[in-house]
Amino acid sequence: MLCLFAMSRKRILGLSRTSAAHRFPHMTNSNEWEGQVGRSWADLHALTDRCFGGLTQQLLDKIAAQSGDNILDVGCGAGELSLAIARARPLAKVVGVDVSADLIDVARSRGALHGNLEFAVGDAAAWRKDDFVPDLLVSRHGVMFFDDPAGAFTHLRTIAASDACLVFSCFRNPRENPWASDVARMAGQPAADPYAPGPFAFADPQHIEAVLGAGGWHDIDIAPADFAYIAGQGDDPVADARAFFARIGPAARATRESAGAARDELAAKLDRWLEEHRSGDLVAFAAAAWIVKAKADRRWRER
Ligand SMILES: C[S@@+](CC[C@H](N)C(=O)[O-])C[C@H]1O[C@@H](n2cnc3c(N)ncnc32)[C@H](O)[C@@H]1O
Repeated sequence: MLCLFAMSRKRILGLSRTSAAHRFPHMTNSNEWEGQVGRSWADLHALTDRCFGGLTQQLLDKIAAQSGDNILDVGCGAGELSLAIARARPLAKVVGVDVSADLIDVARSRGALHGNLEFAVGDAAAWRKDDFVPDLLVSRHGVMFFDDPAGAFTHLRTIAASDACLVFSCFRNPRENPWASDVARMAGQPAADPYAPGPFAFADPQHIEAVLGAGGWHDIDIAPADFAYIAGQGDDPVADARAFFARIGPAARATRESAGAARDELAAKLDRWLEEHRSGDLVAFAAAAWIVKAKADRRWRER
């Protein structure tokens, strides 16, 4: 019983950065985003935006239903969502925050013509801006990488307006996301801790509820959103997808971590797999996400 309690507490409170990185080598945490992973995403931002394009409109539709004058985009990356919101709400102030300086550089140049938009480099789990009290917090897949998720959502609740609303997307179970689970199987990767920081940290809706509840958010609504994860396009979509997966996502990591014959074998398997998912000028995979909505709990007091 004590052991179960300790486990669930650890899941909700998060794992320490060093112990988690040591035990679960396949996760991606904020440290990695600050470095190489962020650089790859910055270089290929047009392609990562293509990948998430089918989800973005669903997320924007959810966000459109919420009022908000001061909008914070958490883990904004190269700024696609921040830009779309700043365009749709010229009277609102939109701020995007991200740990990757490379991604923020790209976001700033893309957003340069929008007077109501700014970007900041920072860890969203600790970042604040004196004259900015967000009443709408949004994120496209930028909230699953915190070492201490409950601590991060507590901080976001603390800097937010008392009636703030939160809307974010995150991936569902890897089994419903073959672009990741197929790669793990082909690479023979061991199962990762399902709650470790990384793309699937919020796959379990009960965990989302526990983390948000602990952080002072309530009225939680978790809805499925399916989309096509476009990995390759054009005259040779397989080559396009191969080049994309060489830099981004679990295939890039699996390739980096293999060597010699195992690496060649993995490359051949990946090629066959991409061919199987080719349809005309596209290589696309089923992708399954949640769109989560929550409200700041006015009665909540930080413990
Ligand atoms: C999957 S990407 C999504 C990026 C962007 N929202 C998009 O849709 O293109 C995750 C983003 O979260 C950022 N991130 C990870 N940990 C963070 C943290 N602690 N604070 C702020 N940003 C973080 C990463 O640098 C990365 O840009």
